[in-house]
Amino acid sequence: MSEPKIVDTATLTVGDKTVELPILEGTEGPRVIDVRKLYAETDMFTYDPSYTSTASCDSELTYIDGDVGILRHGGYSIEDLTENSSFLEVCYLLLHKELPNQAELTEFETTITNHTMIHEQLRNLYSGFRRDAHPMALLIGVVGAMSAFYHDSTDINDPQQRLIASHRLIAKMPTIAAWAYKYTVGQPFVYPNNDMSYAENFLHMTFSVPAEEYKPSPAIVRAMDKIFILHADHEQNASTSTVRLAGSSGANPFACIASGIATLWGPAHGGANQAVLEMLAQIGDKKNIPEFLERAKDKDDPFRLMGFGHRVYKNYDPRAGVLKASADEVLEEVGAANDPLLDLAMELERIALEDEYFVERKLFPNVDFYSGIIFKAIGFPTSMFTVLFALARTVGWIAQWKEMIEDPGQRIGRPRQLFTGPTERPYPPIGNR
Ligand code: ACO
Repeated sequence: MSEPKIVDTATLTVGDKTVELPILEGTEGPRVIDVRKLYAETDMFTYDPSYTSTASCDSELTYIDGDVGILRHGGYSIEDLTENSSFLEVCYLLLHKELPNQAELTEFETTITNHTMIHEQLRNLYSGFRRDAHPMALLIGVVGAMSAFYHDSTDINDPQQRLIASHRLIAKMPTIAAWAYKYTVGQPFVYPNNDMSYAENFLHMTFSVPAEEYKPSPAIVRAMDKIFILHADHEQNASTSTVRLAGSSGANPFACIASGIATLWGPAHGGANQAVLEMLAQIGDKKNIPEFLERAKDKDDPFRLMGFGHRVYKNYDPRAGVLKASADEVLEEVGAANDPLLDLAMELERIALEDEYFVERKLFPNVDFYSGIIFKAIGFPTSMFTVLFALARTVGWIAQWKEMIEDPGQRIGRPRQLFTGPTERPYPPIGNR
């Protein structure tokens, strides 16, 4: 990993103390003030509870410039990758930090294909869940349980085991995710078919039944693969930071990824794609859009326009741009181009983008605004939307985890706090409380 360079120093004066803090520069993006010595020198912490101004690590994997709407993996733009690469090629890029040559790609595809089955005993885990369980609950449980099945890939200090765990997670996630769906709809599990591509195999395991094989069109398979690429990694977002923090304690990779899935589930993060569809259903008709926009602006109303806004992007989310084009293609393909829900979504986007409140706050559609529409058109129920996100993000989580473990300076992550609770007081006997 290339080391960030010290390019300057910042001077901080607190009372009668002055400290010099190094300013570090990476290859692109804002420079950072290195405050690691601050506590030792001043007895003070920095305070940034939602990490608005805090870089938690250095990384070579993904670069985002939210002001102009840039997303790149290993230097390659997301537009180039979705146009020219396959999802597995992008997985290789994230794991190895370089694009594969043909021989490397073929070998990687073979490896992933050969790991798609899950331990037969993991099947039994599904039946412990209620049929009405959210598939994300199943996903967290089954991925966490992988720690109990694949003991030969949980030694985080062995590079070979780290790589095998990475391959296993990428390869088995479609099977685990498809089975989470099958379980909740009461259909038999469909086993992976190694003659199919990654995306096709996932669609097959999700939608085929023993009585009838599902045959997706090449356009749907390509759209699915593109969606996986678009969700593959997104630097230090909430779920990735969770994975890094869990991993920093030395926890095994399967447990770490389960923690990332749990964080992704929330509606402010990956759960937003499900929330977008629910919101569109709630709005119901174009004539109701102004009423809901007013609600989104009202600070006393918890309603927010789902699929809008982003901590980093203060411009169009570049993934939303690619997805918008894919949405047209998929809707055409499945004959849903005139879907009233899509019509409603387009009108909502148009009105919000012209509204002063959204313009002033730079609130643009994010990836979740369009992904839900495509998922619905392909035939996924809303409860599966976040599962699809988790499936695709698994490579990002594991690549970031691997990068962290391979950093020789890695230590356990341990934030500090500003204590605002009571100071010491006498313990009252229970009868006096
Ligand atoms: N609808 C209405 N107002 C919004 C929205 C929204 N979707 N998003 C932000 N705002 C407003 C806030 O109320 C705030 O207004 P104020 O300055 O008057 O107080 C301002 O815009 C800034 O918003 P914050 O909440 O400070 O932004 P933050 O970076 O903390 O939150 C988030 C980002 C969570 C994505 C937020 O925009 C949101 O809740 N969006 C809806 C959920 C969503 O789509 N999540 C998906 C994120 S992308 C992903 O995970 C793949």
